[in-house]
Amino acid sequence: MVVCKKWVLCTAFIGPPEASNFKLETEELPDQLKSGEVLCEAVYLSVDPYMRLFSVPVGSVLMGEQVARVTKSENPDYPVGTFVQIMVGWRTHTILSDPSKLQKVVGTGDLPTSLALGVLGMPGMTAYFGFLEACRPKSGEIVYVNGAAGAVGSAVGQIAKIKGCTVIGSAGSDEKCKWLKDELKFDAVFNYKNASLEDALKEHAPKGIDCFFDNVGGEDTTVVLKHMNKCGRAAICGGISQYNKDKKDKGELPYSAILINLLHVEGIQGWHHVTRWPEGKADMLQWIQEGKMKYKESVTEGFENTVPAFIGLFKGHNVGKAIVKI
Ligand SMILES: NC(=O)c1ccc[n+]([C@@H]2O[C@H](COP(=O)([O-])OP(=O)(O)OC[C@H]3O[C@@H](n4cnc5c(N)ncnc54)[C@H](OP(=O)(O)O)[C@@H]3O)[C@@H](O)[C@H]2O)c1
Repeated sequence: MVVCKKWVLCTAFIGPPEASNFKLETEELPDQLKSGEVLCEAVYLSVDPYMRLFSVPVGSVLMGEQVARVTKSENPDYPVGTFVQIMVGWRTHTILSDPSKLQKVVGTGDLPTSLALGVLGMPGMTAYFGFLEACRPKSGEIVYVNGAAGAVGSAVGQIAKIKGCTVIGSAGSDEKCKWLKDELKFDAVFNYKNASLEDALKEHAPKGIDCFFDNVGGEDTTVVLKHMNKCGRAAICGGISQYNKDKKDKGELPYSAILINLLHVEGIQGWHHVTRWPEGKADMLQWIQEGKMKYKESVTEGFENTVPAFIGLFKGHNVGKAIVKI
């Protein structure tokens, strides 16, 4: 018998996620597989902000993607040892047979398979397609990205540099800002916890912003839109500043800024472009191999520590992609 460990939501989130929202349970899986089935053993789990935004119902296993290794197989298409990425949530073992749910890890080259959850997976593809399709950057333009030291933000800033833009980023610690400036070669950075956003934008983007990639949301979005240039493009990717709030920021509707400056403000979703991910992954992999795209993973060891890894997202504990190594 195989014993699967799984994290279940035992109380609904109110405010920031807390350890008491989660319960570790076990589930017994049969030893014998039926024809077509494979047993997948989690190797890396992804923790992402959307798991707070789109909470599962109480009593359910937390949602999410993982990289798993096939450890038993009754399916010749997925022999033992195959690495798959599967959307089965926070659990250690899963039996699957539906090929549409068993995606082989491809496109990571010689790099760690965990990248299929990060720069070469959903967050990277959100950055790639969200930024290139919605912001349509041109060489020489001024780009501002917030949440810049996170999984999505760090990729956006580097794609913007590759496209010849001047890149301004903000993040929540001086260490993160130093990484962005020294290693990722952002042109300007500021710690939003120590700065007025309005003053920082005046200082670092005195001529205004052409492209804005928004990971944070809330009233800051209004401030940035009001600082944008004519025909500027804003990609609305996420609003992590709001996910834990019962009462969301109301803010001012930046109607005049949008109208007078002819702004394009567009919601973006990585999954929306999933049929084109191979194209995005190929470019990102090439940029990594050429040294133009760097990545960082904040790896938490142990399935038991999935909860603190997730909670840490809302405290700024991660640099780059937050991953749990099982
Ligand atoms: N539209 C899509 O398809 C899509 C896909 C993936 C992600 N997203 C969104 O993109 C954003 C970034 O996601 P990610 O996966 O790359 O996560 P991430 O940036 O790697 O991790 C979350 C980071 O958010 C920052 N943060 C936490 N609370 C904050 C607050 N109140 N105000 C400002 N920053 C805060 C923290 O960094 P600091 O130390 O800098 O505060 C933290 O490290 C999220 O809003 C997410 O929901 C959207």
